[in-house]
Amino acid sequence: MQKLTTDILIVGTGLAGLSLAKYSSELNPDLQILLLSKTSIDECNTYYAQGGIAVVHDFIKDSYEKHIEDTLNAGKGICDEKVVKHVITEAPKRLNELINWGIELDKNQEGNLDLGLEGGHSQNRIVHHKDKTGYEIETKLIPIIENLPNVAIKTSFFATDLIMENDTCLGVIGFDDKGEPTIIEAKITVLASGGLGQVFGVTSNPFVSTGDGVAMAIRANVALKNMKYIQFHPTALYEPNKSQAFLITEAIRGFGAHILNQKGERFLLKAHKIGELATRDVVSKAISEQMKIENSKNVWLDLRHLPLEDFKNKFPKVYDYCTEEGFDITKDLLPITPASHYQCGGIVVDEKGATDKSHLFALGECSYTGLHGANRLASNSLLEAMVYAHDVANHITKIISKIEAKSYDTDTLKYKNIHHEEVFQFRNQLQRTMKYDAVYGTKQDIITSYQMVCEMQKRFKMKFKNYNSHPFLCETYNLIQTAEIILKESLPLNYKRVKATKKTKANL
Ligand code: SIN
Repeated sequence: MQKLTTDILIVGTGLAGLSLAKYSSELNPDLQILLLSKTSIDECNTYYAQGGIAVVHDFIKDSYEKHIEDTLNAGKGICDEKVVKHVITEAPKRLNELINWGIELDKNQEGNLDLGLEGGHSQNRIVHHKDKTGYEIETKLIPIIENLPNVAIKTSFFATDLIMENDTCLGVIGFDDKGEPTIIEAKITVLASGGLGQVFGVTSNPFVSTGDGVAMAIRANVALKNMKYIQFHPTALYEPNKSQAFLITEAIRGFGAHILNQKGERFLLKAHKIGELATRDVVSKAISEQMKIENSKNVWLDLRHLPLEDFKNKFPKVYDYCTEEGFDITKDLLPITPASHYQCGGIVVDEKGATDKSHLFALGECSYTGLHGANRLASNSLLEAMVYAHDVANHITKIISKIEAKSYDTDTLKYKNIHHEEVFQFRNQLQRTMKYDAVYGTKQDIITSYQMVCEMQKRFKMKFKNYNSHPFLCETYNLIQTAEIILKESLPLNYKRVKATKKTKANL
């Protein structure tokens, strides 16, 4: 089988992977770094991030303490306070680096950074590039990374599994851009593989966000935590049959947009005293309940009262998209619905980004650092990616000289052609099952969804003996395995107890 060798292997090319490559390359000019991307280098959640980066910048009105408090409140008491403090107090340094790398952020008339407001923040503190912050980051960082002499990039490489020897990770195995089975041996492997939004029927995430890192971690028995805390973004444009829902950035609610029911009434103030500016979990839940009461597929976003020129200048991406889709935002209401947006849990890492397996790290959305708790505060994730990329790079630099390169061989991975339509049917069924209510509905909703996904997983295994014989097949299995773990964690406690008792009896 084809074999490649590197020192540091990074799976994923969003902000987490790219910034880790940048920091690591500077700290270790003699080491080889290999970045893997599943499709094109820029196709990732970062690219679509509209909002921005939450950073305390105005130390007169704002403070670290306020940002920490907002993060803890959003996370509903289960954030790791030490991590929250660390990330928030490191933010200004990481922001300066981003600016030094050439990322342009909007300024106000006085020439200071323009600070936006998003749900759950008690102060304006979101630095942004219009409503295209992620696009700005990806398009500026990619050429920088491409020009680093010790960084190589492989696009269209699908990693199927981690290579594990006992509890040590030796790299990954997968298919290259020609479908050639390939072993990549690495001293250090970092999963920066992004989110899992495509598990759900309505998502703001692109087609590539299929929980691959988490699924590889499940199969390698790496510890995961808080997978049930899936964040739904309250304001995705309702466009049935699109695999990626267009997001209407939260910053627009910070700019004064209202959410209306079918009667044209604002109903969020009943759910929370700050109405539309409550945290995402509160707003998404209230919208979902409203849609049930009215038996509707959407509620409405009202932008009609907002100053048009200012709006166009601040939110050109949203304005252009809505206009192209035929909406006149000065007259029309926009149909919106909650969409799965972010996984708050993930692969457990310590303060250095290390997992519970040797030489394996995780970073960005696929990781669980403890920052987000049960609900991520808006625009805290790009920040987390930067802070942890910096910390992981420093830690790797300290330990990598002591790690011996190890060789691995196998001929078990074989590429087989598949009938895409047969595999698609599994995805469709999964996405029909995985709705908001599958995780946040009644106990019975969750149990039923869990049973359906378990049954789907059984059928999948029977039909396709080797989940890893084709990238699309493996990706679909990743979706199913990830859904199963999300729902298993969401199950009511008494259901888990009954199941455990039945299992014990059966084993007697
Ligand atoms: C948004 O612009 O509403 C998304 C920002 C985020 O997910 O933090």
